[in-house]
Amino acid sequence: MYTDLKDKVAVITGGSKGIGRAIAERFGKEHMHVVVNYNSDATEAQQAVDVIVKNGGQAVSVYGDVSTEHGVQGLLDAAIKHFGGLDVWVNNAGMEIQAPTHELSLADWNKVISINETGVFLGAKTALRYFKENHKPGDIINMSSVHEQIPWPTFASYAAAKGAVKLFTQSIAMEYAKDNIRVNGIGPGAINTPINAEKLADKEQYAQTVAMVPMDRIGKPEEVAAAAAWLASSESSYVTGITLFVDGGMTLYPAFKDGQG
Ligand code: NAI
Repeated sequence: MYTDLKDKVAVITGGSKGIGRAIAERFGKEHMHVVVNYNSDATEAQQAVDVIVKNGGQAVSVYGDVSTEHGVQGLLDAAIKHFGGLDVWVNNAGMEIQAPTHELSLADWNKVISINETGVFLGAKTALRYFKENHKPGDIINMSSVHEQIPWPTFASYAAAKGAVKLFTQSIAMEYAKDNIRVNGIGPGAINTPINAEKLADKEQYAQTVAMVPMDRIGKPEEVAAAAAWLASSESSYVTGITLFVDGGMTLYPAFKDGQG
């Protein structure tokens, strides 16, 4: 628990399931006030709200598409209306489409970029404007991936978007450091969430995935949420512009793990 997080107001995009839901629930345990954004699953978002309230936080679920200005503005409006302001904005919403790149349609490319990359820009811009106009310090956390660093054939649009998120995070961290606005990324490895459900249900693909993780296991959404809580708290007060990898060592070139090469 980080006592300074109590009563702080957070927006979490894509907060109804997976990693976003785990962050929402962790923030609830920190007794924060949380706007749980959802795009397609109102029931799950409401379940997240119920858990947060049960654990001593406050929460409201709000529909919004992060790839639109209207969508992200609605989240800020809800934070102000229900909780009186904003302290932490987590750009978590994301999705992926697999296709050989020579067959990937422009529509699918645009969809991946608009949610994973433009959505991060729009969310960050909305939070930055609020912090600047109100002369407030603030924290922005952008959900990146190990694929901001590791190339991913047949997921090139996703890797391109996450690579963009990395340099966007670093650029605005520098741009707003003097305003006491910290901006950091989190780079999860293979985490057990709905985005991976099909892959992890298949025994062979599960084994292939675990083989890429030096710690020999798939990560839990709660382990990513713990990183988000630390980055939101004052315990990380001198940290900005990083990507905190939560990946069991996946970015450590696991092919070399037995001393080959
Ligand atoms: P998930 O599929 O469980 O959750 C994604 C969330 O984003 C859902 O709540 C979905 O409704 C929401 N979303 C999608 N499009 C949206 C839109 N236009 N507007 C608002 N919300 C939207 O996936 P997961 O695993 O929880 O992923 C969360 C983040 O973590 C994503 O950015 C993903 O790229 C990233 N990540 C996940 C990894 C994993 O292994 N699960 C690994 C690396 C990164």
